[in-house]
Amino acid sequence: MSPLEEVARLRHEALERISTADSLASLKEFRVQYLGRKGRLTAILKGLKDLPVEQRKQVGAEANKCRVQLEHDFDAAERKFSEKSEAPLIDPTLPGTAQRVGAMHLTTQVIEEMCGIFYGMGFEIARGPDIETDYYNFSALNFPPDHPARDMQDTFFVEGDRLLRTHTTPVQIRELEKQKPPIKIITPGKCFRNEAISSRAHVAFHQVDGFLIDEGVTMADLKGCLVAFCKAFFGEGLKLKFRPSYFPFTEPSAEVDIQCFLCGGDGCTVCKRTGWLEILGCGMIDPAVLEMTGHDPEKYTGYAFGIGVERPAMLKYRIDDIRLFFNNDLRFLRQFV
Ligand code: DAH
Repeated sequence: MSPLEEVARLRHEALERISTADSLASLKEFRVQYLGRKGRLTAILKGLKDLPVEQRKQVGAEANKCRVQLEHDFDAAERKFSEKSEAPLIDPTLPGTAQRVGAMHLTTQVIEEMCGIFYGMGFEIARGPDIETDYYNFSALNFPPDHPARDMQDTFFVEGDRLLRTHTTPVQIRELEKQKPPIKIITPGKCFRNEAISSRAHVAFHQVDGFLIDEGVTMADLKGCLVAFCKAFFGEGLKLKFRPSYFPFTEPSAEVDIQCFLCGGDGCTVCKRTGWLEILGCGMIDPAVLEMTGHDPEKYTGYAFGIGVERPAMLKYRIDDIRLFFNNDLRFLRQFV
């Protein structure tokens, strides 16, 4: 075999070994065999001096090319192996880590359920800001300037004439300013009152207000709507009563009480020992409110109502403390997933 042939064969063989090597250690061993001090290619390079001048040039050039190529290929192959061994080891047979799936808070679920019932009756949904002005929260709703509800004891004032809304009824005014009758809207949202926190009252709570304005709307329409709602929300066998009441923005006004589910009407702390729980206020929209928002009270009449969210939820799901809605204790919340 001529020295040139020998170089060609060596290169072929070495490349084959590089491409089939199965570990970093065997690669290193092969590198020594070919390129080490006593390696085969080194031997050929060392033997060059014994060759005739013409051959020496040719073989020397080939052998050097071969050396450069092998160095490069060994380097590349070694890099691949070391990258592989640095990669994190994954054991696909290990059991996975289960992820807990989150769920909607009970309050959100109840609001959606209530809105769903009204949506089915043709109401649209509107929302307003949690921070309101005195005008929308009180004045436009016909609260006289010295009404006790404006008192510091009930209302959280922010600054100037801004306050945390004490009910969702101001959204009625905002919508009345924007729309022309017929209007049929519900307005879910958060409300705030400066009350002593107890099992039945909290400083933050939710309401779903609603109202309908059109020609010829009567109290019978209001009653029909609310009885249908209560039956859909609480079930058929429910005992409820309409009781005359007063709100500055409705005339006449009423409140709806339902029999306390917790004690079956015998009296408990949640119903203040009366056996009944007030769940909503309602009435015929006061003509003064219609006039203030630019609607002709001679032509249009309307009804309105405001339903608490937490209290009906307590009755429906037999929860005896309103604070549970705000503590975010997962043991409580998981019961309603
Ligand atoms: N805003 C009243 C409250 O928070 C509830 C209420 C009563 C809302 C009568 C209404 C209504 O829309 O017509 O106590």
